Amino acid sequence: MPMSSSSFDSSGSSDVTPSPDSFNQTVIEEFRANGGRVGGPFEGGDLLLLTTVGVRSGREHTVPLGFVRAEGLLLVVASAAGAAEDPQWYRNLLARPVVRVELGEEAFDAIAVPAEGARRDRLFAAVVRAAPGYGDYQRHTERVLPVVVLEHTGADVPPREIAGLADRILEAHDWLRAQLRHLRAETEAHFADGGGARVPSLGLQIRQHCLAFCQGLTAHHSGEDRGVFPALARSHPQLRGVLERLAEEHRTLSGLKDGLAALVAGIGTAEPGAFRAELARMTAALEAHLAHEERELLPALAGIPFPPAPAPAPATAPSPAPEPSPEPSPTAAPHR
Ligand SMILES: [Fe+2]
Ligand SMILES: [Fe+2]
Repeated sequence: MPMSSSSFDSSGSSDVTPSPDSFNQTVIEEFRANGGRVGGPFEGGDLLLLTTVGVRSGREHTVPLGFVRAEGLLLVVASAAGAAEDPQWYRNLLARPVVRVELGEEAFDAIAVPAEGARRDRLFAAVVRAAPGYGDYQRHTERVLPVVVLEHTGADVPPREIAGLADRILEAHDWLRAQLRHLRAETEAHFADGGGARVPSLGLQIRQHCLAFCQGLTAHHSGEDRGVFPALARSHPQLRGVLERLAEEHRTLSGLKDGLAALVAGIGTAEPGAFRAELARMTAALEAHLAHEERELLPALAGIPFPPAPAPAPATAPSPAPEPSPEPSPTAAPHR
């Protein structure tokens, strides 16, 4: 049997019977217990674990998948063994592109970007050369099997030494700024000839990066609103006014983030000049918040350790808590 994503996923269309979920669970446990190695029919195969977040449930969903490396990229195929429908994990990553990858003994966050058009076809041909079974799956379905590029989230952010909570916040801001730069560069490539012909194959790629930025921003602000800001308000009462203004900016940015997603969703028909102006306005507002927060809070955060120190004695002012991580997020738990 070829190494195949569909052989393991829990889409219900697997060739593993009678219980794909329990089979997957066994493979996942073996993978984690043995540094990414599994035995049986998959001995020696290229296998990773992919964790997505359910579109409706909001729950994490892990599947073992075969992978292929081509053109320097890490690829998985949503083959579902050639079934008529896309597997659940693929539907999940279209809604929430920031995913968790376990590969060997390494674990990292990634942005899942399905390839499109000629790029998809070229990558799929490379996949079939490495694992011919995917060609069989493609012949069994009318779906064009999606080829998903798993992009390491830390790839375009310089590593930062984490000596304290301030560095942790800066690391998250570095990542958010990098995503905005990425988004601007991709939209410029989309309007490649200055406003005439577009590059349609970039549509989904831009959308995924935009959603990843929004997902990362939501997780980061949620960590600040629920953890860092309340703790700072207790330990530094003089900052309460500043913290209230920053929390208000979070609410404003939440609306702006939705506007950004809507703007990008319409890129296929947008007038380039208006699109660029609106994107510039939105990114300037987002970047202004990051700069404002750093100006106001970093001095107060200096010296606060991360990970947090052990609980203080009752008479001591509490230290800010770390950011919670409600879902896989590069801003909550970057891995390099
Ligand atoms: Fe913030
Ligand atoms: Fe922040």
